[in-house]
Amino acid sequence: MSDKQRFFSHETLEKNIGWLIICTILVVSIAGLVQIVPLFFQHSTTEPDPGITPYSPLRLMGRDIYIREGCVGCHSQQVRTLQAETERYGHYSTAGESVYDHPFLWGSKRTGPDLARVGGRYSDDWQRIHLRNPRDVVPESVMPSYPWLEKAELPTSDIQARMRALVRLGVPYTEAEIAKAPEALKGKTEEDALVAYLQGLGTNRRNVRVDAAAAAPKE
Ligand code: HEC
Repeated sequence: MSDKQRFFSHETLEKNIGWLIICTILVVSIAGLVQIVPLFFQHSTTEPDPGITPYSPLRLMGRDIYIREGCVGCHSQQVRTLQAETERYGHYSTAGESVYDHPFLWGSKRTGPDLARVGGRYSDDWQRIHLRNPRDVVPESVMPSYPWLEKAELPTSDIQARMRALVRLGVPYTEAEIAKAPEALKGKTEEDALVAYLQGLGTNRRNVRVDAAAAAPKE
């Protein structure tokens, strides 16, 4: 090797920490883009799964209460593709199930169970008692109580603004749906909304199966 060091050589990079950092960032960024950008254009990640529809106004408010109360800090909403998970919770989560979730609530902390498929697992009454005081139904539970939700009436004044914000992000609410939304929240409590949200989680596949059976020709 010649004594004169070439500029574009490994040696330059290994001896010059500034260049090493810049080139590492460059390589990692390009590799990241190659992995991530195609996902924005793939149908399986951008189109809703069968049975996935935008949240009704009541469920949308329930979802916002779920975010406000920090439920995501203890509950994930993402069933991973591992046998132990699919046996416990049901079908693994797919990207097409979250297309109307802005922001998504996949979470990563599981102090409590995953909730991606909790819809219909318990009755509405169970959910209400559990939210007011989890120990009444699960004596060893460490989940906090949320007794104020039962008494807090839902505001009807900002639901249209919430829906319009989602329309801007690509959720297909129609003007008629937005116009009717405040009516759907009248007289409801925050607890009603949260229970409606929980009871819908992960039910899309079941609904599709029911619809397909109903549409099948009778023998
Ligand atoms: C400090 C952590 C923590 C927080 C915060 C929390 N939970 Fe829980 N949650 C748990 C634990 C632990 C369990 C399991 C014991 C039980 O059923 O109470 C649980 C269970 C549940 C279950 C039953 C799930 C099943 O499959 O049996 C539901 C539904 C639920 N939580 C909803 C919520 C909602 C809604 C919120 C927010 C309002 C919330 N949790 C906040 C810890 C938490």
